[in-house]
Amino acid sequence: MSGHLFVAEGVGQRYGARIALDNVGFTLAPGQMLALLGPSGAGKTTLFRCLAGLQQPDSGRVALDGRDVASLRGRERRRIGLVFQQFNLVGRLSALDNVLAGRLGHVPAWRGWLRTFDAADLALAHSCLDRVGLSGHADQRADTLSGGQQQRVAIARALAQQPDVIIADEPVASLDPGSGAGILELLKSICHADGLAVVCSLHQPEYARRYADRVLGLRAGRVVVDVAAADFGPAQQDTLYDGLLHDTGLAP
Ligand SMILES: Nc1ncnc2c1ncn2[C@@H]1O[C@H](COP(=O)(O)OP(=O)(O)OP(=O)(O)O)[C@@H](O)[C@H]1O
Ligand SMILES: [Mg+2]
Repeated sequence: MSGHLFVAEGVGQRYGARIALDNVGFTLAPGQMLALLGPSGAGKTTLFRCLAGLQQPDSGRVALDGRDVASLRGRERRRIGLVFQQFNLVGRLSALDNVLAGRLGHVPAWRGWLRTFDAADLALAHSCLDRVGLSGHADQRADTLSGGQQQRVAIARALAQQPDVIIADEPVASLDPGSGAGILELLKSICHADGLAVVCSLHQPEYARRYADRVLGLRAGRVVVDVAAADFGPAQQDTLYDGLLHDTGLAP
């Protein structure tokens, strides 16, 4: 395998006359965490959907280990773990059952349907919950967990897929700063310890600097910053956000 696990090249997406993504590209090696920054409307969620294979871009491609993500089917789709701003758990199910849902791509369909998982799946789900610090909450209904705990369950669910890449769209936007920092710390440690590639969109430049290895900055659908996180300073921040009130027409 080349050093590049996850590759986006020339990704473009239009909605009518609006260009949401314009020739976006990056490469990511195993064990690298990329923060995706950019003002509202810059195209972060659109890129997330293209990276996840949820949407085929108008142009360009996204490849995992050389294979187009849009072509991944069944259990191969489980190589991409997804984490959302609003957690996307099944509220009436327990934390453990939500994590087991991450295994569905690994068991024959009828077993998934009956939700009868074997001992190895159960052990894996418990170990994933343990890893995110929630072993004491396995049987608790997901909708009674705090927001930070729900996001940890969502990360455990992604881990149970045994993915090669985790893509997270604003995973800390609904959390208080302490919980948000804990989630990013967790993603960073998983990324580095397991050699996963992680892409994580954020609205906080200071979090990107602290937790990511690289920063990709999108503005109006274009990559305007692509630097090591340590090099993301005031100049790059200005490039990304400066004059925004003028851009939106909201300036006095
Ligand atoms: N399904 C769609 N139909 C039409 N326009 C869309 C669609 N999805 C996104 N857009 C437009 O594409 C642009 C990028 O939107 P996107 O949601 O990717 O931005 P974002 O960077 O995620 O913003 P935020 O930080 O507010 O979440 C916006 O102008 C948006 O209105
Ligand atoms: Mg968004």
